Amino acid sequence: MIQIKDVALQEIDARIVPVFEEAQVQDEVLTQIMTSDVFKGKAEELFVLPSVGEKIKYTLYVGLGKLEDFSPEDFKSAIANAVKKAKSLKVKSLGIQIAVNEKLCVGGNVKAITQAALLGLYSFDKYKTKKEEEQPMNIYICGVPAEKNQRANTVLAESKNVVEGVILARDLTNEPSNAIYPETLANIVVETFKDTNLEVEVLDEMQIEALGMKAFLAVGGSSTNKPRLIVMRHRGGAENGEVLGLVGKGLTYDTGGYSLKPTNSMKTMHSDMGGAAAVIGAMYAISKNNVPNNVTAVVAACENVIAPDSYKPGDIIESMAGKTIEIGNTDAEGRLTLADAVTYIIEKENVQKVIDVATLTGAALVALGSEYTGVVTNNDEFFDELMATADKVGEKFWKLPNDKVFAKMNKSTVADLKNIGGPHAGTITAGLFVGEFVQDLPWIHLDIAGTSWSEKSEGCLSQGGTGVPVKTLYGLVAAPCPCGKHK
Ligand code: BES
Ligand code: ZN
Ligand code: ZN
Repeated sequence: MIQIKDVALQEIDARIVPVFEEAQVQDEVLTQIMTSDVFKGKAEELFVLPSVGEKIKYTLYVGLGKLEDFSPEDFKSAIANAVKKAKSLKVKSLGIQIAVNEKLCVGGNVKAITQAALLGLYSFDKYKTKKEEEQPMNIYICGVPAEKNQRANTVLAESKNVVEGVILARDLTNEPSNAIYPETLANIVVETFKDTNLEVEVLDEMQIEALGMKAFLAVGGSSTNKPRLIVMRHRGGAENGEVLGLVGKGLTYDTGGYSLKPTNSMKTMHSDMGGAAAVIGAMYAISKNNVPNNVTAVVAACENVIAPDSYKPGDIIESMAGKTIEIGNTDAEGRLTLADAVTYIIEKENVQKVIDVATLTGAALVALGSEYTGVVTNNDEFFDELMATADKVGEKFWKLPNDKVFAKMNKSTVADLKNIGGPHAGTITAGLFVGEFVQDLPWIHLDIAGTSWSEKSEGCLSQGGTGVPVKTLYGLVAAPCPCGKHK
């Protein structure tokens, strides 16, 4: 539970007080602490001051560094780490003081603190029979001036929905493949949106076949867990207005198929639906917040496994768009499912712009690590919009070159295309393979193989699914904060 409320020190177990380096502080205790060497308010400093014989047991002073170096993202991380610390101290009620400054308005503080607190506390522990904490923490955002209270509560409600979208994406990504497979993923989506305005349609194998989605079926048709096409429609904008199309890679498990992955690379491949998780999480935030735009999302959910009738290297398959594809490697399956999902969303859902989100290549991790999502696009204006939003919500993207030399690498000698572009520039060729199916619409491809999964539990992250890029997808269609500095 999180709310905006100035609580008295007798009412809470602990409080978090953000402090700028070299700040002029009024508080006597803090002045003493800062004149000693233990805490200076430097970035990444956290000083826990216990108190004895009172209801409030701890004050957690969080260093924010110098004002000129302040960034909302660093602020979120610092608060999230302090909240994690409070959790480890078994704090049950926590006040968090806002830190309004020229770079972050009251609303921005509420948003940042809501994200930091709720994402910082997130952990995927539903399969532990002994839970660490049963009782959730009560969090109070303190210091909001009375005249800003109404706006702050509006921001809080919106932010909670976005955070819930991120958490939904994390949960879906973290669930193992024996819990989430195409059918159960579709059921969860239906259940999640049951009482909302969002329309969900689930197509089964026969309907997928009737649509001619042969590339999708080549990948997912052979598993006993049959594929599903999940369609989500949010209509918040004008009736005949533009529709943004989101496509998420939905491999609920990727063994690699006959081009089998080694065990160590396979182990986390239940998360190969991180793109699907992100578009589902974004649709959650979009519908819960009644965003005034039209958005349709499509997930081609399936498993890539070995079965007697699975596709094999050397096969030549067809696609919904009619293009033929030579299979060079059955582990390059994501682009095949995306090719048909993109064709479907353009031809059957009539979208005018497309963003596909996919854990597509290990090469993305090699090139950009786990902080930056790789981007391939055919439209600079659309890309600029993405970057402006990303900057405000604090997610990171990097554009890779879309040059025809890379597109050429996807050409086959025996079919129209092949599903491996060669040994080099793997993230670009994989992206451009999907680009062969976008029919010249403005299109952005996001390779989240590196960013959708975190090995560390620091700041707002916890080990496992990250929920990237839910916030950017949401921010692209939602109204920005009137202050103009953040979404
Ligand atoms: N799902 C993987 C990509 C991936 C790798 C995601 C690591 C997350 C972490 C994808 O289907 C795949 O296997 N790609 C191959 C492509 C290659 C065969 C051209 C890869 O990256 O090795
Ligand atoms: Zn694969
Ligand atoms: Zn994959």
